Amino acid sequence: MSPTPTAAPAIELIGIDKKFGAVHANKNINLTVAKGSIHGIIGENGAGKSTLMSILYGFYHADAGSIRINGETTVIDDSQAAITAGIGMVHQHFMLVENFSVLENVILGVEGGALLGGGVSEARSALKRLEADYGLEVDPDAIIEELPVGLQQRVEILKALYRGAEILILDEPTGVLTPAEADHLFKILGVLRDQGKTIVLITHKLREIMAITDTVSVMRRGEMVATRRTTETTVEELAELMVGRRVLLHVEKGPAAPSDIVLSVRNLTVKDGRGVTMVDNVSFDVRAGEVVGIAGVAGNGQSELLEAITGIRKPTSGEILFHGKPVTGFDSARLRALGLGHIPEDRHHMGLVLGFEESENSVLGYHRDARYGRGPLLDLDACREDAKTKIEKYDIRPPNCRLKTANFSGGNQQKIVVAREIERDPALLVVGQPTRGVDIGAIEFIHRRLIAMRDAGKAVLLVSVELDEIRSLSDRILVMFAGHVVGEKTPDTGEQTLGLMMAGIAA
Ligand SMILES: Nc1ncnc2c1ncn2[C@@H]1O[C@H](COP(=O)(O)OP(=O)(O)O)[C@@H](O)[C@H]1O
Ligand SMILES: [Mg+2]
Repeated sequence: MSPTPTAAPAIELIGIDKKFGAVHANKNINLTVAKGSIHGIIGENGAGKSTLMSILYGFYHADAGSIRINGETTVIDDSQAAITAGIGMVHQHFMLVENFSVLENVILGVEGGALLGGGVSEARSALKRLEADYGLEVDPDAIIEELPVGLQQRVEILKALYRGAEILILDEPTGVLTPAEADHLFKILGVLRDQGKTIVLITHKLREIMAITDTVSVMRRGEMVATRRTTETTVEELAELMVGRRVLLHVEKGPAAPSDIVLSVRNLTVKDGRGVTMVDNVSFDVRAGEVVGIAGVAGNGQSELLEAITGIRKPTSGEILFHGKPVTGFDSARLRALGLGHIPEDRHHMGLVLGFEESENSVLGYHRDARYGRGPLLDLDACREDAKTKIEKYDIRPPNCRLKTANFSGGNQQKIVVAREIERDPALLVVGQPTRGVDIGAIEFIHRRLIAMRDAGKAVLLVSVELDEIRSLSDRILVMFAGHVVGEKTPDTGEQTLGLMMAGIAA
């Protein structure tokens, strides 16, 4: 037997550089990942994590730099080369064929065409072995589109292992999972690591890094800024490395002082565009001076509930009361005039017109106000004056109200919406996913503004799929599952209890 250097790292990225036009996505990146370890890569949105891993997987070509796999310089110019080098990738958006079975998806595209005769039964037993070895149970004959996302993801992992992956890259794998599904995934990753596989886990969630990685590298604005052993760092240090300054991770707030009921929802039922009942007989109140949070996995009716309350979608039955007066079926303009503020879930579709300049977006929806218009025309000077005040107060960058909104980062776009809605001083603020795609620094800022609204005696209804966000901001938590409010809990309720409710398991 020839002596093999057992200490060779599974992955070495050397001087990787990548530009997309003017965007320098990866700047001279060096990274070493030890064999048989779970290595986390953390960084804010746009830091360059996915780009770097796409280069390792042969999806993008680096402008400069080289890759060594197990100590050998390896050219990875397409995904086939990556697979040959033993690299598998679980994508952020699954790449499975929806109407094919698990087994078909796993063997699809494997060289040697296992789709014929004996190949299939061999593949079936190979799949069984993989399932048993790694605790990855899934029915090989199930059709992909009928499986919950957690299981679809398991199929992606099986597919990579079936192709002989020794290195597994997972890009933001828990974004679509319930907490229980995420825990299960982490168990599986632990088993894979213990059997010698090397895992690269990309995430922007500090908690996940602390829970399962051995080492963690931090990216910021295209650069690799630090690598730490997970046991030798803290969430505070990692957050500071990600953002480049100290950040407050916990929202500081005193007890709530709820008073009069501002919003009442009574037996509300809402159907989506296809006529499917998404909100089923839901009732609750939100009082002045409190934050009511709605927890749930995406797609359990939260979006349709918010749309009905904010006048975007007409409910099929039930009632919505604002200060005790029925407003069911009122459109958004009418509700805004009554004192409803709305930070929509999807700022690109509903919150902003990206082609408009910043100042126009900073009054969008309120542009008929006397102070922004002369007759039917928008008074741009008045808008710009108003926008300048908000830019300063909300630290919107760059501080240029004439810049096209599309040229602001996600966090700053969100601040434009938050400033517009909060500065109107609404009696009720309805907030959907306020920090989705927003960097940690802006998250801290937005959270503080929401608590300030509450403390100023406003009613705040918050919907978020980030359980941490719900728990740290809410005074009361409602959990939605399959269109129903399945329970109400206090914010000190454990994550597991809430997680089970979100999965529809316990009420
Ligand atoms: N295909 C692409 N074309 C142009 N710009 C891109 C492309 N992919 C990523 N970028 C840009 O590169 C930067 C890094 O993006 P990405 O690697 O996706 O970051 P992360 O995964 O850390 O959120 C961002 O500014 C992003 O807009
Ligand atoms: Mg990414």
